[in-house]
Amino acid sequence: MLEKLAQIEKEALEALSKIEEEAALEAWRVANIGRSSPVMNVFSQLGSLPKEERPAAGQRANQVKTALETAFAEKKEALRQAALARSLASERLDVTLPGRPFRRGRLHPATQNLRRILSILGEMGFQVYTARDVETDEYNFQLLNIPPHHPAREMQDTFYIETGETDEARRLVLRTHTSPGQIRAMREFSAQNPQNPPPIRIALPGMCYRFEQITARSEVQFHQIEGLVVGQNITFADLKGTLSEFARRMFGRNARTRFRADHFPFTEPSAEMDVECFVCGGKGCSVCKKSGWLEILGCGMVHPVVLQNGGYDPARYTGFAFGMGPERQLMLRHKITDIRYFWGNDVRFLEQF
Ligand code: DAH
Repeated sequence: MLEKLAQIEKEALEALSKIEEEAALEAWRVANIGRSSPVMNVFSQLGSLPKEERPAAGQRANQVKTALETAFAEKKEALRQAALARSLASERLDVTLPGRPFRRGRLHPATQNLRRILSILGEMGFQVYTARDVETDEYNFQLLNIPPHHPAREMQDTFYIETGETDEARRLVLRTHTSPGQIRAMREFSAQNPQNPPPIRIALPGMCYRFEQITARSEVQFHQIEGLVVGQNITFADLKGTLSEFARRMFGRNARTRFRADHFPFTEPSAEMDVECFVCGGKGCSVCKKSGWLEILGCGMVHPVVLQNGGYDPARYTGFAFGMGPERQLMLRHKITDIRYFWGNDVRFLEQF
């Protein structure tokens, strides 16, 4: 029996020394010190030994069991240490290395400029009012004094949305400008108190759509910001003062402006505002085509018919309106020669802003 125990111990320790991983170690434990392992079997056989051999055999069996358990514990610890050393080596961290920069998203340049314009108008007392992108033919054209066959409609080649049987006025279009929002705002305000409608001072941002050939100079979508002021005793002097101050806040304290007569069906009189070229300071360059001036926005006194359509009595109320393109301003400022960059989603372009 003693020899057998010596054999058991020797074989078990030999097997243990070859083990290099957890799973094998567990299998070894079950086979060599588990409940039905050879040493444990010796304990159950002790009773069948001659009486005088029992104490020595029992003692030896205990010794072997303890030795194997100790060897197991040592091996387990050794494996744990080895694993730790391995992971320390592979996950080594050099805290003196510079951090890895991570790429941050940013606002689209058009959004940045839109927000800048809105914050300037906001400081000047304008509230933001948003209207819908899908409009009826009536709001987009007719209520703005652009009748069905008015030549002004040709300037704005339109995306019509098929709606089957609807009559002409209710035909749906993608808005070609933000001006229909003027009617929506006036109607909403005047509905509050039809006898004595409240004054209006709003900025109306939004995407506009035109059925154009896409080229370096024209896109099928672009932003506009519309302004509308309606109240009593509003004059062309208010228009000039407000828009010149806007230009100074937008383009610099010394930005000079000039107004040129123009025509829009929804304003009378109508004008274009130019600012002195902010690229060359008015000396004349390629951006301003040597004129020293840049065309920035269209504006005018709200046409009496339009006031009427909005629910404001043109005998008591007057107002002015303006519309500008934030992308166009960005193009001028940064000498961007191709409008297609704005919706081309090329990060090399977008990352510059
Ligand atoms: N709606 C015009 C356009 O898209 C821009 C415009 C001109 C808006 C004059 C106005 C305005 O409010 O008064 O070209």
